[in-house]
Amino acid sequence: MIRAEGLTKYYGPHAAIIDVSFEVAEGEIVAFLGPNAAGKTTTMRILTGYIPPTFGRASVAGFDVVEDSLEARRHIGYMPEVAALYPDMRVRQYLRYAGRLQGMGRDELNDRIEYVLDRCGLDERASSIIGTLSLGFRQRVTVAQTLLHDPPVLILDEPTAGLDPNQIAEVRQLIKSLAGSHTVMLSTHILPEAQMTCERVMIINHGQIIAVDTPDNLTAQIREVQTVLVRVRDDSEAVPRLLRDMSGVVAVRRADEPGAYHIDTTVGSDLRAEVAEFIVNKGWGLLELQPVAMSLEDVFHELTMVEEVPAKSA
Ligand SMILES: Nc1ncnc2c1ncn2[C@@H]1O[C@H](COP(=O)(O)OP(=O)(O)OP(=O)(O)O)[C@@H](O)[C@H]1O
Ligand SMILES: [Mg+2]
Repeated sequence: MIRAEGLTKYYGPHAAIIDVSFEVAEGEIVAFLGPNAAGKTTTMRILTGYIPPTFGRASVAGFDVVEDSLEARRHIGYMPEVAALYPDMRVRQYLRYAGRLQGMGRDELNDRIEYVLDRCGLDERASSIIGTLSLGFRQRVTVAQTLLHDPPVLILDEPTAGLDPNQIAEVRQLIKSLAGSHTVMLSTHILPEAQMTCERVMIINHGQIIAVDTPDNLTAQIREVQTVLVRVRDDSEAVPRLLRDMSGVVAVRRADEPGAYHIDTTVGSDLRAEVAEFIVNKGWGLLELQPVAMSLEDVFHELTMVEEVPAKSA
């Protein structure tokens, strides 16, 4: 449904994105995850026909975004990073205005307005002046506008930015309810958002896609060491030193609490029993021992850190 092939965009001498390629299948909901300045908005602007790529090509619903821009856009609901709402207009009035700008006919538009108001939980705010709405409700108006012309593909640029936790949950719920009947690509720099909302994650960093997979597979793929958390009663400088000397241990790192350590072990080795026995034999007083699962956050950090080294020296 969305296909990008070798997209590259230069702003002057600076490459914002380099050789970005991916596909999003019909009905999929995919996160475009990356830190600030990674190139998320640039990629989305190219997909939605707002700026042309310097190199490469992209299509949406089979229409080339440059050569067949109008037809491609007809299939896209785009929620830009900074939405331009008219604060003095009322919600329904604004949606009517936005629909007319898109060239929608009066009858179709009236039907669609009622539908999106309902779908976005805006029925009771239909006559409210936009400027008086909370940020979360204004965000819903933006989503409603995005859905107005019934596009099969939704491209949402950081749809939950600036919202409080309750509003974030509501907007996520709304987006999830749209998946299935729509193909959704949403950008975010918030990991739990990618993990909770999406089936697949594409990680972009310094303009390049560095990983594409399910949240679970990404976590498994990067897990080169297994980590065990231990906490001992009688802490001393000998504890980390002797733990490090154990066979199969790669590193020992001090954790947040006193007497607590993260022990990284080699792939595939479960050293919990050995570590427990070792600590008991030393008489350090074993208070806690548990495996540490790597979160997508760790994965993201690890992947983006790895990429930063060559990019900085280049
Ligand atoms: N119009 C522009 N002119 C020059 N440079 C630009 C322009 N737009 C973006 N850039 C640069 O391109 C790079 C990618 O920017 P982009 O907005 O795509 O990142 P992003 O991933 O959306 O970041 P954020 O999470 O902060 O929104 C950045 O280094 C940015 O400074
Ligand atoms: Mg952006």
